[in-house]
Amino acid sequence: MAFSTTAKVWMNGKLIEWKDATIHVAAHVIHYGTGVFEGIRAYDAGGVPSIFRLPEHMRRFGDSCRVYRMDPGYTMDALSDAVVETVRANGFKACYIRPLIYRGYAQLGVNPLPCPVDTAILVWEWDAYLGDEAIEQGVDVGVSSWTRLAPNTLPAMAKGTANYANSGLIKMQAALDGYAEGVALDAAGMVSEGSGQNLFLVRDGTLYTPSLTSSILQGVTRDTVLVLAVK
Ligand SMILES: Cc1ncc(COP(=O)(O)O)c(C=O)c1O
Repeated sequence: MAFSTTAKVWMNGKLIEWKDATIHVAAHVIHYGTGVFEGIRAYDAGGVPSIFRLPEHMRRFGDSCRVYRMDPGYTMDALSDAVVETVRANGFKACYIRPLIYRGYAQLGVNPLPCPVDTAILVWEWDAYLGDEAIEQGVDVGVSSWTRLAPNTLPAMAKGTANYANSGLIKMQAALDGYAEGVALDAAGMVSEGSGQNLFLVRDGTLYTPSLTSSILQGVTRDTVLVLAVK
């Protein structure tokens, strides 16, 4: 679904028009991938949006910030309030929410530390990730020749924008080979995750999923599935 350009974006403490939510081409994040983000769904709960496990997402967001030594100058509680404010301001019944913290405009050089830490929250209407029919019929996936991030390269547990350069390679290969998604192995050759989702397998009534040491993002959905499965 296309972006609604009439939407409002929260940027550095203010709600502004979608068209004004721009950054300079010299912003550090564009050149060096110095950002962290979250992806959160708000579901339509009888005509009002209900945000799925906001505290857990914001906790991971704060953890990602600390890994990348970025202090946004807002507490995660304050940013949670800003998420709610942004969802309300846009009036969607259901939407996808993208909080983003990144190194902005000051100078260009690999060291991110001299650059300011900027914060934005975008919301838009986004259909089911692999399409509505995928939920009923499933999708074809192919094992990728790209592996997930090896330990001590980029931390897979932090949701850094740079990780998605790897995800993009996996996704492009899958798409060009006729698959909906790629399954990546970790550097040791064990199943890790998809370009943008955790993986599960049910066999003979037992649920399997790669461990946190398999270069995966610690998914909030994964946690939810595991909690529901042991009930
Ligand atoms: C690489 C990757 N793994 C797993 C997930 C699933 O995470 P969550 O369940 O928290 O949405 C995502 C979600 O964006 C992801 O990008």
